[in-house]
Amino acid sequence: VDAARASAALLAWYDRHARALPWRAPPGAATAADPYRVWLSEIMLQQTTVAAVIPYFERFTTRWPDVAALAAAEEGEIMAAWAGLGYYARARNLIACARAVAAAGGFPQEEEALRALPGIGRYTAAAIAAIAFGRRAVVADANVERVVARLFAIETPLPAARPTLYRHTDLLTPAARAGDFAQAMMDLGSRVCTVRAPLCLTCPLRPDCAAQKQGRPEDFPVKPPR
Ligand code: ADE
Repeated sequence: VDAARASAALLAWYDRHARALPWRAPPGAATAADPYRVWLSEIMLQQTTVAAVIPYFERFTTRWPDVAALAAAEEGEIMAAWAGLGYYARARNLIACARAVAAAGGFPQEEEALRALPGIGRYTAAAIAAIAFGRRAVVADANVERVVARLFAIETPLPAARPTLYRHTDLLTPAARAGDFAQAMMDLGSRVCTVRAPLCLTCPLRPDCAAQKQGRPEDFPVKPPR
């Protein structure tokens, strides 16, 4: 796989096909997305689908337009607004994180400092650093893992393949537009490189994809032996 070619092809695809989501800046926008909106969306998306998150995201950001407003809200009001999203530990961490960030005067930009905040793990820290701050960070969720497992035809089963998948994601990640790249991988994974019946004919990574060359994209990622 020619990593530079593949990431350039993916970014060109994203420029035409990016989903317009309420927390995103348009592809290649001069002003990056608002860190508060990126953080809030990533927390909501941790165990919930994009379609289910959108109305909650709109209600939260209308009622609490910035992190200071959320930090000043009553815990009970936030828990009530969260009702239906589930995994209530996320909401409790959300409040603790908002208060810490508001007290510090804003979100930190480095992954390591982001990871020190409540509710922010390795994936979420990388996503915020890349999407909100344009930092080069390796963003690997399940959609990204599937794309990478197919692109490189990784034969190691999950979860043992995770370190290999992470290294290959790192190889692919460009220095510039890391946030667009991460979101392009997510969009490709959810709309083209789907779990079943991937749409290889429309895929910008088709010329590079080892699994597609073998005619068996659905065999990747390899499932754990049972
Ligand atoms: N899932 C998690 N983060 C996402 C994002 N920024 N865009 C689309 N899907 C996502």
